Amino acid sequence: MLVILVAIPIVHNKMAKKKYLVWKDDYSVGIEEMDNDHKKLLNLINQLQTAVNYYTGKEFEEKALNELVDYTKTHFKKEEQLMADNGYEDLEAHKQQHKRFISKINDFIIQYKSDSDITIVDTLQFLKEWLIKHINGTDKEYGKVLNDKGIH
Ligand SMILES: [Fe+2]
Ligand SMILES: [Fe+2]
Repeated sequence: MLVILVAIPIVHNKMAKKKYLVWKDDYSVGIEEMDNDHKKLLNLINQLQTAVNYYTGKEFEEKALNELVDYTKTHFKKEEQLMADNGYEDLEAHKQQHKRFISKINDFIIQYKSDSDITIVDTLQFLKEWLIKHINGTDKEYGKVLNDKGIH
């Protein structure tokens, strides 16, 4: 019994570290409103992760997934508007990345509905990797350009 009690926090910690996203200052694009959106997206991914980790059931998982997808779309619109308002040159390429992401997510959702256990984990993995990479790369690019125009 004691061995198990000692092992639980160790295993839990290891899992938690691996699976939850943690915001880093390095992810900042230099524009407060966008950083706040990105932080919220990370939290929504973590909420979905919690639903998966604690087996809260399909209904809660779906709610968490829908909330994340809805907020992602809201954020993309805001971000695209901000870039458009400031004459950002690479707007079209950036929009395409957003579009491809949404269509990929829709594919995952279709798969998830037919085979929930496997694909929700795959979906989460994809979401985490894509989002961090996108924020830390493509989003930072408009960040720099807009910062130079005095937008923070
Ligand atoms: Fe973004
Ligand atoms: Fe973006």
